[in-house]
Amino acid sequence: DGVDQTELETVAYTVEAGIAWVSFNRPDKRNCMSPRLNRQMMRVLDALEHRADVGVLVLTGEGTAWSAGMDLKEYFRETEAQGLAGTRGAQRESYGWWRRLRWYQKPTIAMVNGWCFGGGYGPLFACDLAFAAEEAQFGLSEINWGILPGGGAAKVATELTNFRNAMYHSLMGENVDGRKAAEWGFVNEALPLAQLKDRVTQVANILLTKNPVALKATKDAIRRVREMTYDNAEDYLIRAQEAANSFDNEGRKEGIKQFIDDKTYKPGLGAYDK
Ligand code: ACO
Repeated sequence: DGVDQTELETVAYTVEAGIAWVSFNRPDKRNCMSPRLNRQMMRVLDALEHRADVGVLVLTGEGTAWSAGMDLKEYFRETEAQGLAGTRGAQRESYGWWRRLRWYQKPTIAMVNGWCFGGGYGPLFACDLAFAAEEAQFGLSEINWGILPGGGAAKVATELTNFRNAMYHSLMGENVDGRKAAEWGFVNEALPLAQLKDRVTQVANILLTKNPVALKATKDAIRRVREMTYDNAEDYLIRAQEAANSFDNEGRKEGIKQFIDDKTYKPGLGAYDK
């Protein structure tokens, strides 16, 4: 469709046993996000979202970085040179795929193998779950080159960790490693890099056993209710479940049956047999 090969190569992916492994693929540039990468990532997300053989999406990085944030040359300097339209266009492309990922049809996991800076916090938060290498480094380095943590990064920091941590992290421009990132709530867990992929595969495989309609309804519910009053949340959840029922008339009934009638499993201890 007229897109050149180098642009297509900014993102790599494979689908294996229900899991889409998607990688930032500019290892020589520490996977920083250029407009080309942002456009390609949107295409890849589009192509994978409703594929029947994809149940979980994992976002990781080739080489030593997860993502070194926005590309200071191609995303900032070169688009600024095109004036406001250039800047706004580049923002639409990056924010666009992060938003798409926040509300993705399938559950998503950030597998943070290395550097994660600035704009990288957008896709980090967009993923439903996150696992990091202990060796990974997280930083809001914006302050180190003279801007505020934009593109959602300040919001992500305050959503994921407490006020004092978020303030220190963004004012000081000091990195935290994977362990500290887990302690702060940036990620679910930190593990030695050598164990990271096995753990993520294990988590993805558990997600693959769950009812897919329930997974989508649940991930959206957790994101939505954070900004609601209790009563609004209660109402939203009733309506969201009733809407989910129209997509899944049999699954949850089967789940009840296998427990109550067949006695073949216990929901408190695992998922029903799909
Ligand atoms: N933008 C543009 N180019 C980048 C970026 C970036 N964010 N990150 C790395 N690169 C490029 C380097 O310029 C270098 O290019 P070159 O080989 O053509 O000279 C190449 O990637 C490799 O980078 P090195 O710095 O040599 O790699 P090293 O492994 O020594 O260091 C590190 C990695 C710490 C990630 C370093 O590259 C760095 O500090 N990058 C910037 C991180 C950052 O602050 N990102 C912006 C956050 S703010 C925001 O996103 C809005």
